[in-house]
Amino acid sequence: MDIAAQNRGAAPAEEARVLGIETSCDECAVAVVEGGPGAARILSNVVLSQIDLHQAFGGVVPEIAARAHGETIDTVTREALAAAGVDLSSITHVAATAGPGLLGGLLVGATFGRALAMAAGKPFVPVNHLEAHVLSPRLSDGVAFPYCVALLSGGHAQFVAALGPGDYRRLGGTIDDAAGEAFDKTAKLLGLGYPGGPAVEAAARGGDAKRFAFPTPLARREGCDLSFAGLKTAVRLAAEKTAPLTDQDIADICASFQDAVARLLRLKSARALDAFAAAHGAPSALVAVGGVAANGVLRAALADVAAAHGVDFAAPPLSLCGDNGAMIAYTAIDRLAAGIVDPPGRVRSRWPLDASAATAAPLLGAGKRGIKA
Ligand code: KG4
Ligand code: ZN
Repeated sequence: MDIAAQNRGAAPAEEARVLGIETSCDECAVAVVEGGPGAARILSNVVLSQIDLHQAFGGVVPEIAARAHGETIDTVTREALAAAGVDLSSITHVAATAGPGLLGGLLVGATFGRALAMAAGKPFVPVNHLEAHVLSPRLSDGVAFPYCVALLSGGHAQFVAALGPGDYRRLGGTIDDAAGEAFDKTAKLLGLGYPGGPAVEAAARGGDAKRFAFPTPLARREGCDLSFAGLKTAVRLAAEKTAPLTDQDIADICASFQDAVARLLRLKSARALDAFAAAHGAPSALVAVGGVAANGVLRAALADVAAAHGVDFAAPPLSLCGDNGAMIAYTAIDRLAAGIVDPPGRVRSRWPLDASAATAAPLLGAGKRGIKA
């Protein structure tokens, strides 16, 4: 059956049960989520990480990622259905990430999702990966629109006003590296391996955050744009000056680096909240999403800022911070309930959340996984 025709007849998602597929980077993830907007339950959330395949290369190798997704997607899907205790016939929609991300992996997940939807006679819903991260606090905490988002992942660092499903305004973003990239590069430099974020956070626990005075780039510039490149250079210079590095030196560098990122995010998230209030009125919450939002020190810093502004703070649990299929399935629930029906379309390596801001004032940040912003 023609998928566009199936989509036109898509049931509203009051009580949808969606299979969500995520393959945009190095996680092959499938989940089943059911319910309605702001009130959905995760029936299963299976994430198969490819970290061991990419570790030796110090980063994600697109070709290896795509091939691995192709080899595992059907098994992971079967597992997700089995863990949810449902079969394909009781699924109402199949959703898959269609961008932004690595093209090979996106093609595997989206093509598999479309084929599965077609075979099962269900509508297929293509999902923007960034939108899925942004909506994840609605799945975990039922956060109500409008809210202010700090989107901090391996390919991104931006502040976004989430006004409703499909309605996002960029408040500011990185002009160079992504937040996760700064952690990953710091880890690589210090020999802590890949992915760097969790390794840096762990090393920082035993470190002295005051030992190295790392800068907070763009602090004096107005607005809430971010920059991490100068910080990365400062870390490299400090490491070179201190070498040979002891474990304590590494811990101190990690703690000082993480502290600088926290100071930067405190300053810029306060400005993002002010910009939000000026343009859109009071937000219901400040939320932190994306892989870097798993960092406890950064979460605490953002929670402080939210409290000082008198707004709630939310961040999804760790299982929903990194890439996962549940946020993809939930995005379909929010969009369908809002009456947004997307044609299957093509996969896109670049797909900004706020197309007008991306065109009018493109940010320079590329991110190691290609320009996603
Ligand atoms: O959202 P995500 O899983 O994938 C993308 O869409 O990019 O984010 C992955 C990024 C990696 O750069 C990883 O190092 C970082 O999130 N990350 C962390 C932590 N856990 C993961 N960064 C800082 N602290 C952490 N605990
Ligand atoms: Zn992500």
